[in-house]
Amino acid sequence: MTEQTKQMNVLDFAARKPGPGQSSSDKISMVTCYDFWSAQLLNRTQVDSLLVGDSLAMVMHGFDSTVHADVDLMALHIRAVARGAPDKFIVGDMPFLSVRKGLAPAMDAVQALMQAGANAVKIEGEAGQLDLIAHIVESGVPVMGHLGLTPQAVHGIGGHRVQGREAAAAKALVESARRLAEAGCFSVVLECVPAIVARCITNSISIPTIGIGAGAHTDGQVLVLQDLLGMNPDFKPKFLRHYADGFTTISEAVNRFHEDIKTGCFPSRQESYA
Ligand code: KIV
Repeated sequence: MTEQTKQMNVLDFAARKPGPGQSSSDKISMVTCYDFWSAQLLNRTQVDSLLVGDSLAMVMHGFDSTVHADVDLMALHIRAVARGAPDKFIVGDMPFLSVRKGLAPAMDAVQALMQAGANAVKIEGEAGQLDLIAHIVESGVPVMGHLGLTPQAVHGIGGHRVQGREAAAAKALVESARRLAEAGCFSVVLECVPAIVARCITNSISIPTIGIGAGAHTDGQVLVLQDLLGMNPDFKPKFLRHYADGFTTISEAVNRFHEDIKTGCFPSRQESYA
């Protein structure tokens, strides 16, 4: 394990928050990771941390929303990622309704994700959850907040859409972020909010903000791995940058394999046992 790939911890997150009036020179990078083979790959990159997001319900299982992830599914994927990426700080998503059924079931869910190998849990939303968040933090489990577009609430907010565009909604987001920091969250994801709102939140709270579709003025950025790799060429929301054309690269490789079988040039003598 090199210095660059040393596993982060919550103190490193705190240290990456610039002081008041300073701009961040050491932003936090995070990507989603759902399985063993991509975890092994990411373990050898410089990315700071991995998120086993409940977006795995959509990306890995083809559901139309994250509502379909449950604790068992999250724990299964977290176990695979933890086996593949022992050097990375792993955040596991608390799935749909797992924090809304009372203290004991919520703590059972936290226990399942942490014992599966997460280093922290992420909880969407703030209203009605501050006491639970404080209790989880007091229990020694780091909590990452998640505000703005909270996909588990997709049916309640009328779709995957930018949040906090109106002044009142933007102000409410700033206040929610302050309360999450006070409750003990070590960082907060800001998803699909106007850049100016994300900047205001980032400047008003003492914990790092991690943006996705929240502009450049957050303390870190997160993207879904398959999205940044361009695995779905048709999915190109405004905030997404494709860092590779993964769809073309992989489909061309598989088609070359197919052609080589048809033409008989795979396997060669060198690729065969004598
Ligand atoms: O589940 C997920 O992938 C997430 C990110 C979009 C932040 O929560």
